[in-house]
Formats: sequence, C-alpha cells, structure tokens
Amino acid sequence: MEKKNLDWANIGFSYIQTDKRYVSNYKNGAWDEGTLTSDAAIMLSECAGVLQYAQTCFEGLKAYTTEDGRIVTFRPDQNAKRMMNSARGLEMPEFPEERFLDAVEKTVAANAAYVPPYGSGATLYIRPYMFGSSPVIGVKPAAEYQFRMFATPVGPYFKGGVRPLTIRVSDFDRAAPNGTGHIKAGLNYAMSLHAIVSAHEEGYDENMYLDPKTRTKVEETGGANFLFVTKDHKIVTPKSSSILPSITRRSLVHVAKEYLGMEVEEREVLLSEVQEFAECGLCGTAAVISPVGKIVDHGKEICFPSGMEKIGPVTQKLYDTLTGIQMGRIEAPEGWLREIPIK
Ligand code: PLP
Ligand code: COI
Repeated sequence: MEKKNLDWANIGFSYIQTDKRYVSNYKNGAWDEGTLTSDAAIMLSECAGVLQYAQTCFEGLKAYTTEDGRIVTFRPDQNAKRMMNSARGLEMPEFPEERFLDAVEKTVAANAAYVPPYGSGATLYIRPYMFGSSPVIGVKPAAEYQFRMFATPVGPYFKGGVRPLTIRVSDFDRAAPNGTGHIKAGLNYAMSLHAIVSAHEEGYDENMYLDPKTRTKVEETGGANFLFVTKDHKIVTPKSSSILPSITRRSLVHVAKEYLGMEVEEREVLLSEVQEFAECGLCGTAAVISPVGKIVDHGKEICFPSGMEKIGPVTQKLYDTLTGIQMGRIEAPEGWLREIPIK
C-alpha cells in the first residue's frame, strides 16, 4: 500500500479529507448494517434535531504506525463505551461497542494510505460522531439518527509542537454543575468557542476552567484534562463530576503507577494550591500530554519551575512512555492496542 504524498512532518491539527468514511442510520428503533462511502457531504432536513437543539455527541481517537510497521488503534473500546454513555445522556440510541470497533477497523483500513509513517510525528485522528437527523420542532429527542466516522491525518494540537503553553483562568464556564460536562456533547464545545477565541486574542493557548459552582477548583481545559506533578514527584489530577473522563489521563495514571512507580492522587484540586506544583500538563488524545509553563489568573502569574523553555522531566517521562506504548516501542498493557488488518 502506497502512502499519500503528504508533508507528514508539517501537517497541523486540521481537517484533510480522506477517501472513505463509515455511515450507519438509525430508523424505526434499529441501526442499519452500516457502510463505507466516498461521499463526504451530508444531506439533512432543515429541522433535524442536531440543527435545532444540538443533539449530537462525538469521540476522538488515533491510529498509529508502529516501529515494526503495523497499524494500531489505542484503546478504541474505551471510546466506544464513552460514546454509549454520551448517547444515553443526550437521549440518543447507543451505537454498540462491537459495531463501533468494526467501524474503526473499516475506516482506518480504507484510509490506510493516510496513516502517517512511523516516526513522522503525525498520526491518523479518527472522529466518530452521531446526531439527530429527523425533524424536531418541539423540544424532544429526534426519532432518527446517523452515526458516522471519518479519519484525518493530524500533527500536534498546539502550534509549535511540544512546547510549554501559557493558559489563563477563564471567567467563562464550559459546563454546568449538574449538566453535560462529563459526556462528549457537541454543545460543550460550542460553550467554549467564545472563551477560546478571546483567550487566543489575548495571547493565551488555552483556558483553565474552574468548577462552575464555587469557582475555586480546577476542572479542565476545552479539550484536555490536567495532570500536575508535585515537588516530591507525585501525580495529582482533578476529580470532578463535570469534566470529561479522559482516556489519555486514565492511561497516564496507569503508566505513572505501573511503569514509573509513581504515586497518583485523583482528588479535588484548589486553584490556590496550583502554585505549589512542580509541573503541569494537559492530557488528551489530541493534546497527548502538552506541558504548561505558565497559568495567568487575572494578572497573577503562576510559573512552574519547569519553565517556558522545555517540558518538565516527569511530563517528559510520561510522554515518552505513553507514545512508546502507542508506537509499539514499549510493551502495552493487555488490550490497549488493536491492530488493524490491512489487506
Ligand atoms: N477533556 C475534554 C473536554 C476533551 O474534549 C477531551 C478530548 O477528548 C479530553 C478531556 C481528553 O480525553 P481523551 O484523553 O479521552 O481524548
Ligand atoms: C480529542 O482530544 O480527541 C478531542 O476531542 C479534543 C478536541 C478538542 C480536539
């Protein structure tokens, strides 16, 4: 299989249309068998549930080329389960895990020429999503849905690759205390658009959202969870019912405990204690683990000892171990990598 002629080392985190995408429709209480299509366009009713009341959720996962030339995906079963949970939260039908895994396999295999080569620094980002497709005008769930999955090659999420980021404490909230913060609803991301545009305008890479109830505790950013490292080399990560349970974070917690022998605490993290930490990172599928050098809280600067020049030593170890597992250089825990059979 010949790879596409793309400048792999220099692609950013943006959409590049690939050859095939997966589609399945839900009607009369059941999903159809699903198929791959070349058509990247969607035709919808003007009154579709997704257009009127944002009834949509999505996922994000990646495929990698390993050192020995296989194509693998990372923990897709976890994305399948989280998407089922998101669907339940939005009164949508679940797309079954086995169907999801089959769709991942088909979508990646059909676009194998777009899976970036080993060592290029790029990966294939897979975007499963589901939306209400039939008309609704009273506020209620749609009767019909479409599940789709496309793939697009991507480089680093933050411009400039792995470099310490500067973020600000946001005055906006991304989720309500008893709302949809813990599921991957499109509306959470709509909520964050004004905040991210204004953060960028003011020269920040991202927003740190606080808990919307008391505004004293650290939640997450628009697209990643926080991991902190204490001065005595423990990992601390915020616990909250209104953040998205990151699969990358769960994986890094395992890596820290089982591969690096570190202690990990998942607990509430007060904004006022952040200045005590030695390192800070943002973790997610797109972000991998991106180091934070500085947090600005309304003019007050919290500068981590790891500085603005380079990634901190513990964050670097976590990054190297996780990407080593994903690229097949370090043995993965049972079930973390799913190989895509390529004909
Ligand atoms: N938090 C938010 C709000 C996200 O959008 C994401 C990305 O999916 C994450 C955290 C990280 O989750 P994961 O590691 O499963 O990609
Ligand atoms: C991901 O990391 O997959 C996400 O969905 C985050 C998104 C903001 C790009």
